[in-house]
Amino acid sequence: MTTALVTLKSVSKRFGNIVALTDVSLDVYPGEIVCLLGDNGAGKSTLIRILSGYHGASTGRMLINGVPTTLSSPRQARQLGIATVHQDVGTIPMMSVGRNFFVGAEPTRTIGPFRWLDIDKANTIAVEQMRMFGITRVNSGDQLVGTLSGGERQVLAIARAMYFGAKVLILDEPTSALGVKEAAKVLIMVKKAREQGVGIIFITHNARHAELVGDRFVVLAHGRVLARFGRNEKTRDEVLNLMAGGEAIEHLQAELSAFEDDMRA
Ligand SMILES: Nc1ncnc2c1ncn2[C@@H]1O[C@H](COP(=O)(O)OP(=O)(O)O)[C@@H](O)[C@H]1O
Ligand SMILES: [Mg+2]
Repeated sequence: MTTALVTLKSVSKRFGNIVALTDVSLDVYPGEIVCLLGDNGAGKSTLIRILSGYHGASTGRMLINGVPTTLSSPRQARQLGIATVHQDVGTIPMMSVGRNFFVGAEPTRTIGPFRWLDIDKANTIAVEQMRMFGITRVNSGDQLVGTLSGGERQVLAIARAMYFGAKVLILDEPTSALGVKEAAKVLIMVKKAREQGVGIIFITHNARHAELVGDRFVVLAHGRVLARFGRNEKTRDEVLNLMAGGEAIEHLQAELSAFEDDMRA
């Protein structure tokens, strides 16, 4: 039996009086894409911050490769192979692609005699890695990140995480600000990462994007797991309804009808 790369068991998180997560369990295995879906305020970011070492859980447990672990920092999470790519991907427009590839990098495997100031080598590796993942438009590592499209920046950030040994990729809304063509580049990249055996937690609002790549789906609402299901187990409408918090759509409809009654009165 394969061991999960990361497991959360009955995790709850409070901020003072605010309960952000209640009894959430989640795991991700090598070579699968778990989509984390949920409306604003559902607790998605809080969950990611726990997985990536920014927050400790209030109660509950975390296992990494089956070993109970308490993360004390984001750095420790990265060293254990858990990489988080945020929506803005932390790329700096005026920085070169090559430099960006190695900034803040904390290798979890040996990459040979590499010196940080060896910018030629950094450039070569960055261009090679981007090509490997289908970004052929970048010919020189000196090219500025600002010349890349939104999708290409996501690809750059994911390629970088994988190059430095990520085993788990946490992608926070990687496609939500992108048009169709750009989103496709990112979704293809996500599938390539899966092919290489990485476990992916894909956070999104977009049910279409989720169904295109997801193997398993977890819907959060008000800090709790509202539903879990596998590929092709639910229609897109069912998923959209769940993401709105289950009964939210009926509430909306009731409110709208009441409003229309008022207008008529
Ligand atoms: N640092 C914090 N301090 C206080 N409340 C927080 C903090 N982070 C998140 N929350 C609260 O926790 C709940 C879940 O938020 P969040 O995880 O950001 O949801 P999502 O990412 O799904 O929109 C919200 O009610 C939010 O206001
Ligand atoms: Mg959020």
